[in-house]
Amino acid sequence: MALSTNSSDSRDRPSLGARPGLGSLPPGTSVKPGLSTVGNDSLKRILNHPGLAPSQEREFAFTDADFERIRSLLYKNAGIVLSPSKQDMVYSRLVRRLRSCGDQTFSQYLRRLEQDNSERETFINSLTTNLTSFFREAHHFEILADQLKQVKEKRPIRIWCCASSTGEEPYSLAITVCDTFSSMTPPVEIVASDIDTSVLAQAEKGIYRRDRLDRVQPTHLSRYFTPIPGGDGSYAVRAELHRLIRFRRINLLSPAWPVQGPFDAIFCRNVMIYFDKQTQYSVLKRFVPLLRQDGRIYAGHSESFIHAADLLRSVGRTVYVRLDSPLR
Ligand SMILES: C[S@@+](CC[C@H](N)C(=O)[O-])C[C@H]1O[C@@H](n2cnc3c(N)ncnc32)[C@H](O)[C@@H]1O
Repeated sequence: MALSTNSSDSRDRPSLGARPGLGSLPPGTSVKPGLSTVGNDSLKRILNHPGLAPSQEREFAFTDADFERIRSLLYKNAGIVLSPSKQDMVYSRLVRRLRSCGDQTFSQYLRRLEQDNSERETFINSLTTNLTSFFREAHHFEILADQLKQVKEKRPIRIWCCASSTGEEPYSLAITVCDTFSSMTPPVEIVASDIDTSVLAQAEKGIYRRDRLDRVQPTHLSRYFTPIPGGDGSYAVRAELHRLIRFRRINLLSPAWPVQGPFDAIFCRNVMIYFDKQTQYSVLKRFVPLLRQDGRIYAGHSESFIHAADLLRSVGRTVYVRLDSPLR
């Protein structure tokens, strides 16, 4: 499991990096944010021994070549560009995998990754950043509600939340749709997907500690969640809300996505920042035919798709439409 990078308060902060094995990235290319440069264990050690760099105290040797191989593997398998400054973070996240697999060296672990699909999945899960919260970037949910109100014909609404992390985003979407239709059974289908199977499993459970629900209004809390009896103060999403969402593992880099358009909305927020422009463009190009002509793509606060101006047009506030959209 990734280090606690899914807190609700901090923001993704990308830093520049070089694409593994491909030299320097152009200015503005973003890399995976939210990864602390120094892992928790290392941080504790530094605080205890301020003069020591984490690399001087490592249990396993971790060479620049090991780090490069890991960066390449993550880029190839998930499209995620890791900044060179993330070496200590990568070490602290993967060292537990070495221990758990009984590997003596990073080379041995890397060899294992070549043959073992299940460990490759855990490797990716360990290196993703899953920062999210309920109603994050709240203006998008208001725009979505307005969008839904414009739908005049009787038909199901379809929404794809393609980097859904631990589920706060798709459940916020489901709440928005229920509110807009004043119904617990609105005509909507939400597909929630992520590459990380561990966060996807948490999303599917739909159980949240009270502090994760701070941004949920009290009326929403009582309408859409139930306290877990005899528990630790956690809440479960109501079955009606859960029923509106289908959870799937989808890697945006995979050549085939098990989803069918057309979608009214694609929420693709705070994931593109981990990809280089080339990967972003190829993902966006595949979104366009899956989007209704009057559909919208919702991006994260620090994401811009102006490099895809031949595919999409901005309608403000990090919302994009197809070039042939009637929307202004
Ligand atoms: C920072 S979270 C964003 C969560 C949510 N969209 C939000 O804005 O709050 C980024 C998510 O993207 C997922 N991700 C990273 N690479 C991916 C890929 N290649 N395909 C699908 N999801 C990916 C991560 O696992 C993580 O859960």
